[in-house]
Amino acid sequence: MDYESGIKQKGEDVVKKKIFGLFIFVVLALFIAACSSESSGDADGKTDDAGKDNSEGGSDSKGEVEIFSWWTGAGEEDGLLALIELFEEKNPDIAIDNAAVSGGAGTNAKAVLATRMQGNDPPSTFQVHGGEELNKSWVAADKMEPLNDFYEENEWMDKFPEELIDLVSSDGNIYSIPVNIHRGNVFFYNIQVFEDNGIEVPTTMDEFFAAADKLQEAGTIPVALGDKESWTATQIFENVLLGKLGPDDYKKLFAGEIGFDDPRVAEAAEQFGKILDYVNEDHASRNWQDSAQLVANGEAAMLNMGDWAKGYFANDLDLETNVDFGYFAFPDTDGEFQVITDTFGLPKGVDNPDDVKEFLKVLASVEGQDAFNPLKGSIPARIDADPEKYDQYGKDTMEDFKNSRLVPSLAHGSAASEGFLTKANQAVNIFVTQRDVDNFIQALVSAAPEM
Ligand code: BGC
Repeated sequence: MDYESGIKQKGEDVVKKKIFGLFIFVVLALFIAACSSESSGDADGKTDDAGKDNSEGGSDSKGEVEIFSWWTGAGEEDGLLALIELFEEKNPDIAIDNAAVSGGAGTNAKAVLATRMQGNDPPSTFQVHGGEELNKSWVAADKMEPLNDFYEENEWMDKFPEELIDLVSSDGNIYSIPVNIHRGNVFFYNIQVFEDNGIEVPTTMDEFFAAADKLQEAGTIPVALGDKESWTATQIFENVLLGKLGPDDYKKLFAGEIGFDDPRVAEAAEQFGKILDYVNEDHASRNWQDSAQLVANGEAAMLNMGDWAKGYFANDLDLETNVDFGYFAFPDTDGEFQVITDTFGLPKGVDNPDDVKEFLKVLASVEGQDAFNPLKGSIPARIDADPEKYDQYGKDTMEDFKNSRLVPSLAHGSAASEGFLTKANQAVNIFVTQRDVDNFIQALVSAAPEM
């Protein structure tokens, strides 16, 4: 071998060794990555693709439960994290993937969920409102497992109010488990601002408008609104509707037995428009948390919001119930309760239904509900939870739930299908800027067949 070819040979040997070394390194790296992705708990809110691939071998348990919700940061996720912690204590070998998509009332999460469900890629379990959002979307599409036996085995049939079981049932089958009850027809108010302006808690719309005038004259924003996502305005409208129609006719409206061309709906729209005269000018650029901050810092006096706002005030903004903020039923709806319930079920086709059921058991337990709800601002769905775990707001709301006429919320998925709700939100959004009652009513009438 001559010098040149000797050098070449040596060089080739070195290159071969390097390639072999690199090959071993890559194999090792892949092996380590595969091992760590199998064991990762991944509670960072992102979907774990590697975890998903691992699960496709068809085994009973992949040791991971993906919880899909819209409870992220700012007043939403504390309850969920407490529930996850409790679950992990009880099930150290099952990892949780907290796959939350931000956006109040599920504005973004519901779209992501729809894509996944249509692509047969369901999360292990997902947040869904009891009522039409569950029944007309996922049950009707045959995407959910019935849970009747699961309820029986765990003796839950008499542990949840009948009305809630009805909301999560269709044709005699039960399809999800309620973790909470939120109330939608509540006004929260800044106690100092009320005192400074000599305002009494209003119970009727007339008293409400008198108080709003007084506040406005004093240079305070009477009503905080953040309708960057239009459901917050829809929620005000549904409460005005409830006040105008009363619980029976409100329910008939969404059952299609009373038309949206009923004159009382137009009156409700007028009244809704009048409330909008008292809101902050920058309402369209705020979300619900931003609008709650206006009440917290005294720039605004009142906020109509579901009682997740109580969780936000108490846990995130460190305000004290009945010291810093008070609450009252939306005027003209005292004795009525706009029900919003977050529920979780078992989608068809998940790889590890037994692990998912373990999570559902924790969520359904007294311990789970009492860990979740005091932080979330809601009351427990179970009737045998411990009232002592709740502050005065929670205790009052538990009493109100027992003694009120219950009605399903439109803005939060219970009263009508997602198709109708999307159109109603659009109509509300247009109404907020145009204030054209006839157009608004017309839009609702045309959307009604989709209810
Ligand atoms: C849900 C609540 C949530 C709220 C704001 C509602 O639709 O039921 O759990 O806190 O939206 O995002």
